[in-house]
Amino acid sequence: MKRNLAYLQKCKSAQQPIVCMTAYDAAFAHWANQADVDVLLVGDSLGMVVQGHANTLPVTLEQMIYHAQAVQRTNNQAWCIVDLPFMADSQLSQTLENSARLIKEASADMVKLEGGQRVIPAVRALSDLGVPVCGHLGLLPQSVLKKGYRVQGRDEEAAEQLLADAQALEQAGADMLVLECVPSRLAERISQRLTIPVIGIGAGSNTDGQVLVVYDLLGLTPGKLPRFSKNFLTDAGSISQAMMDFTQAVRSRAFPAAEHEMAD
Ligand code: KIV
Repeated sequence: MKRNLAYLQKCKSAQQPIVCMTAYDAAFAHWANQADVDVLLVGDSLGMVVQGHANTLPVTLEQMIYHAQAVQRTNNQAWCIVDLPFMADSQLSQTLENSARLIKEASADMVKLEGGQRVIPAVRALSDLGVPVCGHLGLLPQSVLKKGYRVQGRDEEAAEQLLADAQALEQAGADMLVLECVPSRLAERISQRLTIPVIGIGAGSNTDGQVLVVYDLLGLTPGKLPRFSKNFLTDAGSISQAMMDFTQAVRSRAFPAAEHEMAD
């Protein structure tokens, strides 16, 4: 069954965790469908795991369109979020044009942009135009040069700011929120406070869903896995089984376990 916003909202109300993974091509999208994954994220993480860059900053809108088109050729079941890459949302008119391209040319179901107060006017404008929007708070990979890769929201002031940003995004019309690398108690608080689904990565087990970079969950990413991730291929023996195990582990809240959480 093709997932839509109403379905994902129902998952939140029923406290059924939403299963999300990244996808960058047709084959992985196919196997994710077979594994009953709810949401596919064509993330700009492709700049690192597919293209081999040190961060996500070099990724272009054309490349996002190319990968999203490939994903959408085989995806007939998951809700598909596509990232606006670095600087594709630096001006309001450009954000609207680039979002329209992701929808018209790549059949995106939803666009995702990083940040809090800065993106509120764009979220409001997109939402008014009928475009589903996913916010992204916590660790912001597109701000790595300024802020590094660090857990966010650890002190009281930063935690309150994150909560305020999350509420402002929801009020502006965001339909979903990704929370990356924040202490689990804060992520739980934000998930409870918002009415829209909150999908966590490195944010503990008490969000409304979980997302992992597919190359991490299959152990394909060279080097050390992030602490919050898990290689599901080790025990599974095949890519399709690893994806099914991930789905099952998220739905049963077996993943993430305590060892994957960020301390307060
Ligand atoms: O680009 C991406 O893969 C992401 C996830 C880390 C949430 O934004």
